[in-house]
Formats: sequence, structure tokens, C-alpha cells
Amino acid sequence: MTLLIQLIYTSRVSSDFREHEIPELLKKSRPANAKLQITGMLFYLGTAFLQVLEGEGHSVDSVFARILVDKRHTQVMTISREPIDERSFPNWTMDFATIDPVEAGEIIGDPGSFTDGAQVRLDSRSTNRLIAAFRRPKWEQSSAPLAAPTARRTK
Ligand SMILES: Cc1cc2nc3c(=O)[nH]c(=O)nc-3n(C[C@H](O)[C@H](O)[C@H](O)COP(=O)(O)O)c2cc1C
Repeated sequence: MTLLIQLIYTSRVSSDFREHEIPELLKKSRPANAKLQITGMLFYLGTAFLQVLEGEGHSVDSVFARILVDKRHTQVMTISREPIDERSFPNWTMDFATIDPVEAGEIIGDPGSFTDGAQVRLDSRSTNRLIAAFRRPKWEQSSAPLAAPTARRTK
């Protein structure tokens, strides 16, 4: 049996990076991830990226090593790196969503976390909240205590 791990990190979007560059980033990343059997999700929050990478440990670590030195973002901060029993995004070589930064802050209960200052303020608990809020199926959202995020998914 292969040992799967899930790595979550946040980073600050470089000042010269523009949202319209994301399709190109995904176009290159997805086939590379497919080759390494990496799945996951990338969130773009205007000032911050949040990414979930899952797969075999050495594969995830090798992709993350490249991501770490990528000039399109700075202040890369690992939130967690843990063994997992199953993938959270099994069908995605890299799912993608844009989330409004104000809304993301509300979901994690820290309104300023993506809109002010130079530092992205996220810990493991709030990151998982954000991911869970986004992944919650539509039928659950109406009765959920948290506001449903209005994320845009781009295929
Ligand atoms: C926010 C962000 C997320 C990225 N995600 C991935 C990814 O999931 N897979 C991938 O292969 N490259 C990803 N990249 C691109 C890598 O950083 C790197 O440019 C790419 O792997 C090519 O590396 P190379 O030029 O050393 O071959 C990402 C870059 C950024 C800025």
C-alpha cells in the first residue's frame, strides 16, 4: 500500500502576479501533477494562495520544492504535512477556486486575515475550516451555521 500525505501551505501572491496568469499556471501544473499522481486544490484569495497537495510523500515533496522557489509568490508557510488515509480531492490534478478575501476572512472568523498587512494570517484550524467550507456539498449549505462561500470554480 502506498503511503499518502497531504501538504497544505499558504503564501503571499507576488505584487507583480496577476489573476489572469492563473490559467497558464494550471495548464502547466495539471499534467505535471498527473504524472506524479498528485491531486489537490489551489485557492486564490487576491493577496494569498492556499494550496492542498496530496499524493505519495516523495512526489508531494518534490513538487513543493519547486513551488517554494517560485517567484510568483513569497512567504510560503507550511500549515501541515500529514499522512492521510484517502485523498480529499481524488478527481482533481489541481482543482481551483477564487474566493473573495473578505468572505474568506469571515469564514475563518478573522476578517482582516487576507485584506490587511504584509503577512498572511492562517493556522491549521482556520485553513481546514476554509477548505471544509468550500468542499461542503450544496445540499448541506442551507442548514450550515457558516455562510456558504461564493467561490468561483474554474475548470
Ligand atoms: C501558487 C502556485 C501553485 C503551484 N502549483 C503547482 C502544482 O500543483 N504542480 C506543479 O507542478 N507546479 C506548480 N506550480 C509551479 C511550480 O512552482 C513550478 O513553476 C513548476 O513546477 C515548474 O518547475 P520547473 O520550472 O522547475 O520545472 C505552482 C506555482 C505557484 C506559484
